[in-house]
Amino acid sequence: MIAAIDPGNRRTKYAGLQQRPFVFPSAIGVNDLARNLKRETGPYDFEWEYEGKCGFAGTLALEESEYVESRKDDSKAHFDAKLRTLIALHRFGAGHEFDIVVGQPIETHTEAEKTTIKRMYVGRHDLTINGQRKVITINRCEVSPEGAAAGLLVAPNTGMIRVIDIGSGSVNFATIIDRKFNNRGSWTFTEGMESKRDLQPAAFARQIASKAINRKWASTDKVYLVGGGALELYPFLQEYLQHAQLIDDDPCTANVRAFLMIARRVYG
Ligand SMILES: Nc1ncnc2c1ncn2[C@@H]1O[C@H](COP(=O)(O)OP(=O)(O)OP(=O)(O)O)[C@@H](O)[C@H]1O
Ligand SMILES: [Mg+2]
Repeated sequence: MIAAIDPGNRRTKYAGLQQRPFVFPSAIGVNDLARNLKRETGPYDFEWEYEGKCGFAGTLALEESEYVESRKDDSKAHFDAKLRTLIALHRFGAGHEFDIVVGQPIETHTEAEKTTIKRMYVGRHDLTINGQRKVITINRCEVSPEGAAAGLLVAPNTGMIRVIDIGSGSVNFATIIDRKFNNRGSWTFTEGMESKRDLQPAAFARQIASKAINRKWASTDKVYLVGGGALELYPFLQEYLQHAQLIDDDPCTANVRAFLMIARRVYG
């Protein structure tokens, strides 16, 4: 089965064939298995056991974990991202064998990091969620650049397209020229909607736009906004980038829907 996962710093997005994307909190708590009070279980309440560790994840971690954290990192080559991805495959993936596409920030989308991520995923994973054991085998894994991939959703995408992916822990700036990623015009700013002590949307929008203009993006360029921060920031961004617009009505899942497009192409 083909699947796409964007294990974001704040929210994990999953897209499979013939399904609408699923979005759940990326929060994880370790060693939280003392759950004496039975509570109603929601669709994103996860009790997990994996590689000798256990804990809560998703909404259950947010509400009940003593040590909850959502790791906000510049790379997604780490245990928390792996666990988010595997939880998504366990809960929403049909079958036990997968070919996946996952995301990585543009700045760390290097050969070395990609190899580490592929090694992390390819193979057999024995994961128990809410008492249900599932052995997941990942046969193939591709790593796609966040933000840049979302450019694939724009049609027709001839000429130059800019994408800004405003996440919780990072902002990806991407340039695509005639459907090819342009390295020089693409990079990551490693602060996002949750990196500030007190987020001021207008000020953050100015900071983001200034970073683009400093790198010679023109204020008249066609800019598509994706990521969970896009909705809140786009009116402010338009002050500096006149043609900035939301990529579509669900910018939050844009990356993962693009990863699924890539998965279809690569895995056939
Ligand atoms: N319903 C919501 N739940 C959570 N965050 C929301 C919601 N609506 C808007 N947001 C905003 O979206 C941000 C998360 O965006 P997004 O899901 O794109 O981040 P992410 O992909 O998890 O992070 P990153 O790209 O840094 O890994 C939050 O920080 C918040 O500012
Ligand atoms: Mg993201």
